[in-house]
Amino acid sequence: MWNRIVLCFFLLLCSLFAAEVIVIPPISEDIKTEGQKIYNKECYACHRWSREFAGPAMGENIGKYISQKEELVRYLMNPTQKQPEKYPPMALDPLSQKDAQVISSWLFYLLDNPKDPNRPR
Ligand code: HEC
Repeated sequence: MWNRIVLCFFLLLCSLFAAEVIVIPPISEDIKTEGQKIYNKECYACHRWSREFAGPAMGENIGKYISQKEELVRYLMNPTQKQPEKYPPMALDPLSQKDAQVISSWLFYLLDNPKDPNRPR
């Protein structure tokens, strides 16, 4: 009896605190087109691929997330300050989860394929 109550309570707690699972969609032609569109509209104003601009170089930015890819999606949905001694906070209107997933997929693809002709400068 008590075992069951404890188990139910435990499962309830787990469901309350379960972090939302975020996946990076696999690269596709649609993701490339859509990712580039979002980038030109939302990111290019401040970022260049291989050098610092208003913000740090995008290639390096993405490299920081290579072993924790979902964190890039979370960051773009809710930018928090990272390097206060060097940069102001990133003034980006938070992306929707879908846009953040699409652009993350494209950016990780570009990191592996830097010669793609559509890679932003
Ligand atoms: C208004 C200028 C601006 C725009 C627009 C902008 N960024 Fe940034 N970005 C910055 C600045 C400034 C920083 C450094 C912020 C910090 O250190 O807190 C930054 C940092 C980053 C980082 C590094 C975060 C880290 O962990 O250090 C990533 C990744 C990033 N931007 C991605 C993007 C993407 C993708 C877009 C478009 C969806 C975008 N940014 C649009 C200015 C901008």
